[in-house]
Amino acid sequence: MEGVTGRIYRAVHSRFFPGIDKYYAPFFSPTETRRIPPKDMEELKPENNRGMVLVPQLLANSADNFLWAARELRQLGYEEVNLNLGCPSGTVTAKKKGAGLLAYPDELDAMLERIFSSSGAPRISVKTRIGFSEPSELKRLMEIFRRYPIYELTVHPRVREDFYKNGVRLDAYGYACGTSAAPLVYNGDIFTAGDFAALLKRFPETRAVMMGRGLAADPALARRIRTGEGADRETLRAFHDELFRAYDDILYGDTALLHRMKELWSYMICLFKDDGKCSKRLKKAKDRAEYAAAAAAVFDGLELLGEAAGIR
Ligand SMILES: Cc1cc2nc3c(=O)[nH]c(=O)nc-3n(C[C@H](O)[C@H](O)[C@H](O)COP(=O)(O)O)c2cc1C
Repeated sequence: MEGVTGRIYRAVHSRFFPGIDKYYAPFFSPTETRRIPPKDMEELKPENNRGMVLVPQLLANSADNFLWAARELRQLGYEEVNLNLGCPSGTVTAKKKGAGLLAYPDELDAMLERIFSSSGAPRISVKTRIGFSEPSELKRLMEIFRRYPIYELTVHPRVREDFYKNGVRLDAYGYACGTSAAPLVYNGDIFTAGDFAALLKRFPETRAVMMGRGLAADPALARRIRTGEGADRETLRAFHDELFRAYDDILYGDTALLHRMKELWSYMICLFKDDGKCSKRLKKAKDRAEYAAAAAAVFDGLELLGEAAGIR
């Protein structure tokens, strides 16, 4: 998902659509090698993330590895580090990381105990799903989370087995609201300003909302929520062109460049009224010329919608 979460995207997004409180960097997994991989370091260097608040995210099932990385990140100037307990990918969960650790609450508890009793780490926030297999697992998880001074708890109310399907389980989020000691951040299926308003109306204790696919589909979603002002066609086009240029500067070869841009379009096409033809043309573009023609067909030919509700 680097096309919509990496440093290039963040830098261009924050210039065209300022006002995001915090961006989260894609997670990395610290190991005993005690070395931040060069690709992740490039992602996290402060000079590559100017003009925004960035929170690095770690995947870990070892307190030692987590603490080592958290202290390194503090040295780099980061004031908050996020522990990912949400990633549902099989390769991650098989290693008892991400949402995989939720299936082992005793081990999670022991890891948090060590992390929070150590010094030298920045503020620690946690992003979690509501369980591995069943929402009933949330009760035990909340008992665990309550014991630690978690800076913010982000809840994506799906279980790992849901992946990104089955709709969000808002009753479980309500349970988290009623039992969390940490300030809560909501995450999941906020695609329109209406979704945001409904969530805040039902759960006013929510401190903030983390947005993923909704923001990728509608890069102006945060401003739309705050002020009602969405993106116009010219700004979206300029945003697109700048992303294209920035990726072209750092990527080798057109294949990689088109791959990133196509990923962007897999979300952003939802902001346009497409009968499938433009989307297909974008996907099939084999070179720059075909790609440029396909993107122009969207910007010049398709109606711009008031929201990206079609991503649902
Ligand atoms: C391809 C992809 C990559 C993701 N990478 C991360 C990640 O690195 N860290 C993270 O916390 N969430 C990651 N997420 C999950 C989103 O942050 C979010 O929890 C999920 O998409 C639900 O929220 P949404 O409905 O707003 O998209 C990723 C999601 C997708 C689809």
